[in-house]
Amino acid sequence: MGVLAQQVVAAIQSVVGDTKAGLHEPEFTSAEYRLVQDCLDSTMVSSVGEYVERFEENLAEYTGSPYVVAMSSGTAALHIALLVAGVGPDDEVLVPALSFVATANAVVYCGAIPHFIDSDTTTLGMDPGRLRDYLVETTETQKGRCVNRVTGRTVRALVPMHAYGHPLLIDEIVEIGKEFNLTIIEDAAEALGSTASGKHMGTFGDAGILSFNGNKIITTGGGGALLTGDRKLASRARHLSTTAKIPHKWKYIHDEVGFNYRMPNVNAAIGCAQLTKLSVFVERKRELYQEYKSAFSTVPGVRIFEEPEGCRSNYWLQTLILDESFEDEIDEILEETNRCGYMTRPAWIPLHKLKPYETCPKMRLEVAESLARRIINLPSSPGLMRQ
Ligand SMILES: Cc1ncc(COP(=O)(O)O)c(C=O)c1O
Repeated sequence: MGVLAQQVVAAIQSVVGDTKAGLHEPEFTSAEYRLVQDCLDSTMVSSVGEYVERFEENLAEYTGSPYVVAMSSGTAALHIALLVAGVGPDDEVLVPALSFVATANAVVYCGAIPHFIDSDTTTLGMDPGRLRDYLVETTETQKGRCVNRVTGRTVRALVPMHAYGHPLLIDEIVEIGKEFNLTIIEDAAEALGSTASGKHMGTFGDAGILSFNGNKIITTGGGGALLTGDRKLASRARHLSTTAKIPHKWKYIHDEVGFNYRMPNVNAAIGCAQLTKLSVFVERKRELYQEYKSAFSTVPGVRIFEEPEGCRSNYWLQTLILDESFEDEIDEILEETNRCGYMTRPAWIPLHKLKPYETCPKMRLEVAESLARRIINLPSSPGLMRQ
């Protein structure tokens, strides 16, 4: 085993101990069992039921978002958010190259085309300075629309994503959205519990989305939510995600092609219990960050990613970044850490390198590509810091 791989294994071991550690394991107590049992007893396990409403209300209170629509996944929430924002066939949507594939997939579900944007090393999210320069160079305004000069297509929306829970420079991104007439849909799938200037991520743009997949900071098994301050947008999202059914005592009237995307009640029951623990999970993950920071402070050639200034990260996935001179060692480090029972994972393959997205428009993506060669996510479960 190479020296760096040995040092990384030793540093992880000093934080998490000798037992195996997953990347991000959910934690359940009697609270979840009690609410799920109650939901089962009520027989209202599907999309009509009090837990869905309660989960939405509790999320609205936690995030400060005036409207919340719970859905079956973060991807579904992103699809609906883009649709209600008016994204349609042949529009372009600006998305980060360094993201989970769902960010681009949701754009394609709308018949639109993802257009890839580079990252910023200090936030891991979109780089606002370079994004603005790029838009000045490559787009023009025609009748209030931002038009790509090369493809002639309308650039309709911008989807900033808070990578691994760390807030990007959202105020600057929102300003760019205003300047270029772009709707902002924040992909805050990983950022529940993260804030910038005290405001919750996902509440800065026209709409935002969260994910409650099993690997997220809280889970509903599978699930997601759309956040927005716009009443009409929320009501249209609710309608579209419930098969566009017009309420009626018995008739099945659907006034457009909708989606079966509502969160089932039994999943919302898990979510209601999980939400009561969210603040504790965030605190534990912030402590875990401190532990890793100190353990890796003596390992040359790596750094633990620290929340950008002015914001508070949920530290969803702890992120180790190798210096460029050590990037060739990433496979060995991944191999050794996993062999020793510490589940680590690399960053996503940048989306423009995936087969379905190879021919999409893009800016120069050297930062995203470099980060993708150097990021390793470390075991990050909130349970690792349980007292
Ligand atoms: C950045 C990002 N966007 C979107 C999603 C999609 O969420 P889901 O898995 O709930 O569909 C995820 C997560 O899984 C994600 O990490």
